[in-house]
Amino acid sequence: MLEPVDFGAAAGAPSAVMRRWQGNGIYFGGDYNPEQWPEETWSEDVELMRRAGVNLVSVGIFSWALLEPAPGRFEFGWLDRVLDLLHDGGIQVDLATATASPPPWLARAHPEMLPRRADGAILWPGGRQAYCPSSPVFRERSLELVRAVAGRYAEHPAVVMWHVSNELGCHNAHCYCDVSAEAFRGWLRERYGDLDRLNDAWGTAFWSQHYGDWAEINPPRTVTAFANPTQQLDFLRFSSDELRAQLRAEREVLKTLVRQPITTNFMIGMGVKHMDYQSWADDVDLVSNDHYLTAADPQAHLGLSFAADHTRGVAGGDPWLLMEHSTSAVQWQPRNVAKLPGQLRRNSLAHVARGADGVLFFQWRASRAGAEKFHSALVPHAGPDTKVFREVCQLGADLKALAEIRGSRVDADVAILFDWEAWWAVELDSHPSVDITYADRVNALYGALWRAGVTADIVHPSADLSGYRLVLAPTLFLVRDADADALRRFVEAGGTAAVTYFSGIVDPDDHIRLGGYPGAFRDLLGVRTEEFFPLREGERVRLDDGSTADVWTEWLHADDAEVLASYTDGPLPGVPALTRRPVGAGAAWYVGTRLDEPATDRLVARLLDEAGVRPAAPAPTGVEVVRRRDGERSWLFAINHTDAEVRLPAHGDELLTGARCAGELTLPAGEVAVVREDRT
Ligand code: GLA
Repeated sequence: MLEPVDFGAAAGAPSAVMRRWQGNGIYFGGDYNPEQWPEETWSEDVELMRRAGVNLVSVGIFSWALLEPAPGRFEFGWLDRVLDLLHDGGIQVDLATATASPPPWLARAHPEMLPRRADGAILWPGGRQAYCPSSPVFRERSLELVRAVAGRYAEHPAVVMWHVSNELGCHNAHCYCDVSAEAFRGWLRERYGDLDRLNDAWGTAFWSQHYGDWAEINPPRTVTAFANPTQQLDFLRFSSDELRAQLRAEREVLKTLVRQPITTNFMIGMGVKHMDYQSWADDVDLVSNDHYLTAADPQAHLGLSFAADHTRGVAGGDPWLLMEHSTSAVQWQPRNVAKLPGQLRRNSLAHVARGADGVLFFQWRASRAGAEKFHSALVPHAGPDTKVFREVCQLGADLKALAEIRGSRVDADVAILFDWEAWWAVELDSHPSVDITYADRVNALYGALWRAGVTADIVHPSADLSGYRLVLAPTLFLVRDADADALRRFVEAGGTAAVTYFSGIVDPDDHIRLGGYPGAFRDLLGVRTEEFFPLREGERVRLDDGSTADVWTEWLHADDAEVLASYTDGPLPGVPALTRRPVGAGAAWYVGTRLDEPATDRLVARLLDEAGVRPAAPAPTGVEVVRRRDGERSWLFAINHTDAEVRLPAHGDELLTGARCAGELTLPAGEVAVVREDRT
């Protein structure tokens, strides 16, 4: 039985909330959808949850149609019984506001609330999230539901957390209907104040696009030629803000009724581009995230680590909650590869290593009907006598053994700068090469750090950089003056920074920074590029340090920087490709081409060396090492993704097996260890 949770008078900053978690372990559980099952199943559910060590379940996420089967008629009886049963079993609840997907009756009464695509097509009910984020009808009805649910369960002893909606914007991030158009105009008025300023920002002197009246402006609907890029960028900003407004509106209502912390599940790290989660972080009491492996990627565990490190970055370094991942296969990828024995444990504990103070899954019991019936769960169709359920029970025991790490923070000397606005802007159309994507260099640099055993925080360019030794700025195409300036100050104060090509190019209006690329970083780097020379598909170039590269070259002058490597062939033989400029007590490196993986690894090794950054522990390639720390205490996580037993230096007590490490840790293939390190 868990200790009762005392959340105090009001939820506060994320760390405060996670620290106030008074349970006897790390959160462990998942989405629980009892409404899909007859009531007889529910007591077996609770019994199995207890057996597995589950202590937190998310309830009611898609329950609107059952909780309010007709306008204003609420049926809470079944939910009362579920919550009481869970409470009696010692299972705590993250209760959903249930607004994730509106019931069919609402769309029937108000078809104007359905979302429209850029070509005007309506997205009908029958899937989920069929609502326009700007719809006043949806807003009003959803808030009424929040009032009803929160009013009824605010004091329920099982409820320890509130879960606003679900993956806001997963399917309806952009709506182009007339209601959205009007809301977009309102948002633009707020941003620009007057039309002159908007015309200037959007560069409407071009192609006869000048606006004389707000009513002439629309979302970037399907157009004849390339749509105005700043209009597109502003629509992306607006759309993220509209979804955020739903989060804020639900939170406002909750705040008047409940005392427990409030969260909503983000989708950081899976290529989900549309929500600027960094800007949403202030609207939750604790950051929670959903992550699913990309089955087609043999290095999917790198993607997982990146997602976790980025979630921690969004959370400002505080502990966070993994709201969803999968015990095995999902059902929404083209080939839904199942997890091999041991993979579930490696995946879940990698999130914990990187700052998660809880690991939850989608979902408790595998559905027998509906679009997700082939999605794995904690209890599979075959029941508890299965590999999956046995591994779930093992994980429950592991998490109990790791209870003491709760609230600790992750050590990182390196930061990678990441900005959703830069992502949006760099991937707009009409650019020099379609081969430049935001994820490409971010992942390349992250992968090199991962292989070197070095943990990185993925942070917004406006984050405080003073605690880092090395800062990487991959493809930071759009950058604010203040953020470029902060990078300069970081270097002057002794830091090492590396900027990759197509960075610093535009300001927040998507206007080119004149005088030579990479505009905002030109002075810091001591280089000036006069022309881009993107490469043809498949074309490769060589550098005089033996590296090869593709996709991108540029006519660069190293006016005030040391040249570390130049092209030997391609369109620009003899032109610098890699430079370094000592600045103050630090140095600023520029990478003007897309280095291949071995060259990126060598570059990162040099940067780490110069910055004096070492791995969490010396470990063979394929062994993930991360350190969490709390004041004087520290824990070394080691996750062996290889097929061979490995040894690494460690002094302390291994928490999962209880073994003592007197100088060396032996880690069998596929295994995980967490060593509470001796204090030296
Ligand atoms: C998301 C949703 C869940 C479920 C899972 C399936 O994370 O939040 O409701 O659809 O995907 O992977």
